Amino acid sequence: MCRGADRLFSSEGRIVSSFFFRNLKRSYPTVSTGSGVWVRDTAGNTYLDASSGAIVANLGHGVEEINQAICAQLSQIAFAHTSQFVSQAGLDLAARIGALAPPVFRRGARVYFTSGGSESVETALKMARAYFVELGQDSRATVISRRSSYHGSTAGALAATGHPARRKPYLPLLKEQPHISPAYSYRCRCGAAGSCESAACTLALADELEQAILAAGPERVMAFIAEPIVGAALGAAVPGPLYWPRVREICTRYGVLLIADEVMTGLGRTGANFGVDLWGVEPDIIALGKGLAAGYLPLGAVLAAGHVVAAFESNSGVFEHGFTYSGHPAACAAGLAATTILTREGLVQKVSAQEREFFARLNELRRFDVVGDVRGRGFMAGIELVKDRDTKEPHPAAMRISQLVARESAARGLLIYPGSGSIDGHNGDHVMIAPPFTITDAEMDELFLRLGQTLEIVTASVLSRA
Ligand SMILES: Cc1ncc(COP(=O)(O)O)c(C=O)c1O
Repeated sequence: MCRGADRLFSSEGRIVSSFFFRNLKRSYPTVSTGSGVWVRDTAGNTYLDASSGAIVANLGHGVEEINQAICAQLSQIAFAHTSQFVSQAGLDLAARIGALAPPVFRRGARVYFTSGGSESVETALKMARAYFVELGQDSRATVISRRSSYHGSTAGALAATGHPARRKPYLPLLKEQPHISPAYSYRCRCGAAGSCESAACTLALADELEQAILAAGPERVMAFIAEPIVGAALGAAVPGPLYWPRVREICTRYGVLLIADEVMTGLGRTGANFGVDLWGVEPDIIALGKGLAAGYLPLGAVLAAGHVVAAFESNSGVFEHGFTYSGHPAACAAGLAATTILTREGLVQKVSAQEREFFARLNELRRFDVVGDVRGRGFMAGIELVKDRDTKEPHPAAMRISQLVARESAARGLLIYPGSGSIDGHNGDHVMIAPPFTITDAEMDELFLRLGQTLEIVTASVLSRA
């Protein structure tokens, strides 16, 4: 057991500090060092990072090559504003991202840099709106998104987010926009046992988009935004094979821009460069964050396909938008080094090659009664936790079972990513397992050993309460 692990999730006692903690009734260990999949705190505990932080540290911790690239950039110049300069690192990284992206992004596409996922989504939404203003289609201002989704913390991104608990306090600040059903095959409306793979259900879900466009009036709709595989809000829920192609078809039919939120799925997490590659679908705009600089510095990006860029180029030439830190040279240097390692080491291919074995081992965890579903792609896995596997009844929300599992695993030196509210924003619990791509076989054994021990303890504790 970890020393001081009780401090990690304690709800008692306030700590005297001026740091605005995520939860002011909890205490957090102070992190000290990281190397590979391992993270250490100042109390001497060591954790295996099985969630890459918040699914960010895709290359593991302490990669000296990235640190060196950042230092080299800092020693030249730390900051330059994009109203005055571009940096070579920014130019090179834009080219690199374009080369990794689906084919439509290789001709005339451009990359707009941000400092993280929420900024990327906010930028993507504003870019979609500005695109239609450039084209003289000013009536297009509605964004359609899905329930059980997370697109970020800023106002536009939160308005698109479909997670009631995260939205509730801020509703008066958010623009009301249509949300359609998520592609949540474990809880399909048809009531299938297990996960629903039926073409009819998959297409019916995608067709909700068309109904929403028609209800809003196609001339008012500017974009549909969705994650290829829903991360934090739904625990790696993967739509059926027909879903994304049909969504693309509907967006094209009504001239609606398709925005893929690849903040979590982008750059290898799913075993493909981009999540949409798994369906062979090309969006008009892609939002990136998290894995782009692998956590070494805050960095996000928005890829705009050539036809989106052309609307600006052939009209005002200006996207009226900007952040002070957009294209920060050191952050771009971090992204360049991270993507160099990603491609040079063949890490996307490694994740793809290890996917089958990874999920075979995850599926073995179904031996624990609390495990209702195991899902995901690549190294992006979700385990849904249920009270009754036959009926899929969730645990009472007040039990906060995903937090309980995360607490138990942290006490065993294993970091995983808990989530709740997947069913309706309040009920429904999952944990995500998403290790760095660089994890070794021995470390993977250790991950599953600790995860198995955790689920055993939690299953016993749940049964003893029943
Ligand atoms: C799919 C998705 N979009 C957007 C965001 C927001 O990113 P950030 O927290 O970097 O602002 C997240 C963060 O979890 C995410 O998972």
